[in-house]
Amino acid sequence: MTGRIEALPSTSALAQRATGLIMQLLNDALARKGRATIALSGGSTPRIIYERLGSDEFAGMMNWGDVHFFFGDERCVPPSSQESNYRMVKETLLAGGNIPERNVHRIMAELQPREAALQYEEDLRKTFDFAAGQLPSIDIVLLGLGEDGHTASLFPSSPVLHERARLAVEVFVEKKSQYRITLTLPVLDNAGTLIFLVAGRDKAEIVREVLEDNTRRYPAQLVRPVSGQLYWLIDAEAAAGLHSMEKK
Ligand code: 6PG
Repeated sequence: MTGRIEALPSTSALAQRATGLIMQLLNDALARKGRATIALSGGSTPRIIYERLGSDEFAGMMNWGDVHFFFGDERCVPPSSQESNYRMVKETLLAGGNIPERNVHRIMAELQPREAALQYEEDLRKTFDFAAGQLPSIDIVLLGLGEDGHTASLFPSSPVLHERARLAVEVFVEKKSQYRITLTLPVLDNAGTLIFLVAGRDKAEIVREVLEDNTRRYPAQLVRPVSGQLYWLIDAEAAAGLHSMEKK
């Protein structure tokens, strides 16, 4: 299932579309349940989106006190590190002071990797009401796409691609020479809505392979929502190799 693919004319148009979709989905969840949850992706692509979401422009358009933020993955570095996804969120989404920091469920990646993963799983269990053996359903999960087809910190040939029991795991990423913590595929697949956010010409080939060429099985292709919606929001440069898509 590739879901709904939208090619946006520019990165700023991608950010505008993504922000609008996220706001709509959060408000829908708040209207249904009085609470909304979203897992943030890391890397550089989402920065502009988090800056907009956290800006004064949206402060009065959302009851941010009832929105809880999680992470799809985190690098095993201190929160002050330039590599920390939490630091990137603090510099963007939280910079405007419109979103309560207590609503951001940080992965304590400064701990030993396994300890960090177990702590994050415990946080998920405390926040979501699900029985043993069941999975949390995060309303929105944002995902990026690496040039090697990874998403979150699920990298090609990684043993954690086969993890079906745990919610979050520690994984050593050879090519990054770094431990990371990542949500597992069953949790991603159980999301209400999954949104891949991809921008830049360096992603054009992997976008084409992932969306139009099934000869290989990249981790991003393994993400299959059980019952949720799947969106691919891609800017023109990253969509340049696609033959069939809806141009917005
Ligand atoms: C991370 C991620 C990772 C990221 C992709 C794309 O922690 O790096 O979550 O999956 O989304 O590598 O990263 P860019 O947006 O920087 O291209």
